[in-house]
Amino acid sequence: MALSSIETLAALELETDGVSTHSSNEQRKVEESVSAIYRSLKGKPERISSIRLFRDRHASYLLKGLKNLSENYECLDASRPWLCYWILHSLCLLDVPVYEHMELSVIDFLKRCQARDGGFGGGPGQLAHLAPTYAAVLALCTIGTEEAYNAIDRKSLQNYLLSMHTDEGAFMMHHDGELDVRGAYCALVCALLTNTATEAMFKGTAEWIVSCQTYEGGIAGEPGLEAHGGYTFCGLAALLLLGKVDSIDIDRLVKWAVHRQMKFEGGFQGRTNKLVDGCYSFWQGGLFPVIAHTLQALGCKAIAQEDWMFDREALQHYILFCCQSLIGGLVDKPGKTRDFYHTCYCLSGLSMAQKSPGDMPDVVIGGESNLLKPTHPLFNIRLDKEREAKEFFRDN
Ligand code: FPP
Ligand code: ZN
Repeated sequence: MALSSIETLAALELETDGVSTHSSNEQRKVEESVSAIYRSLKGKPERISSIRLFRDRHASYLLKGLKNLSENYECLDASRPWLCYWILHSLCLLDVPVYEHMELSVIDFLKRCQARDGGFGGGPGQLAHLAPTYAAVLALCTIGTEEAYNAIDRKSLQNYLLSMHTDEGAFMMHHDGELDVRGAYCALVCALLTNTATEAMFKGTAEWIVSCQTYEGGIAGEPGLEAHGGYTFCGLAALLLLGKVDSIDIDRLVKWAVHRQMKFEGGFQGRTNKLVDGCYSFWQGGLFPVIAHTLQALGCKAIAQEDWMFDREALQHYILFCCQSLIGGLVDKPGKTRDFYHTCYCLSGLSMAQKSPGDMPDVVIGGESNLLKPTHPLFNIRLDKEREAKEFFRDN
């Protein structure tokens, strides 16, 4: 696949049978830009094996963003807890410490985002919404200090999560808002990390998620829509967190998921016939450890103990060669500008692709200096941060 078959790369290009469409033209353009990078490596195996993760450049981009954002980020004014999470989690995977005064300032900011009804808004004074609530809880658990944990008003958070639950088992993203699979996943993550889950809170949720599985095998945002990696990750991770994976058609889901890795680029697409994007390194690539745990829960031990069911080297090549901005930060695909969302999910995907199941040795393209800290496959915060948060909320 991709770089491992660099001598025969042309054989992996899109085949259109002579019929071009908007989608095939777009795919061709991406393949051309990726091909320019991969072909420049032909006959230079040492450049492939010595590729570096630009740790310092990514760290300074992230630390700068934590202090100050350019006006380009004005459009994310309703997603400010997300920016905190994307930046802090990325730094955490890189194992870069954050000054205490910066952490305190993030904690103070996120506290001001928690609305009176218990959910977090996209900024102080904004309507509570499940997505920034999830991001705020993850950001605070990533900081992982008592001040950070205590910034969450858990009682009102619990009431808020309950109030988003509908009779059909789904979750609204906000009061009178849309229902989708993200809602169920965000609510579960918040409730399980903060130890506020109740049985009533997730009544009917597993059944509702299963009703979102499509004929392709992936999971859609709502019943009847198109399967997408973002929702498939949320849906399967939620089923596993609920301990109710037995009614999803896992064979069909696996078949859909394994076909989302692009044979030429090595990265993942979000849905059939769409383009590769670095953020799906986590949403799609991160599905494989979840699939492995699901298979294990279903009793398919032999399969789950082997390697993940995707080409981990090809994904790492795509992230390291095609998604790293030379000035720090990571991108969707070559030619795109860096941003904190893609930086977070490219690094999360890289961390996951490096980590092997069980005690198997890690697979780290470019050598040990590229190794990131391991991320939790279901919560996507660093493994130790998940354990510490759960311990704190169990005892307090
Ligand atoms: C399609 O965008 C993308 C979506 C419809 C949503 C994707 C969902 C996630 C990434 C999961 C979010 C998770 C949480 C926890 C909130 P597009 O049409 O621009 O992209 P595409 O062409 O790659 O499908
Ligand atoms: Zn993306």
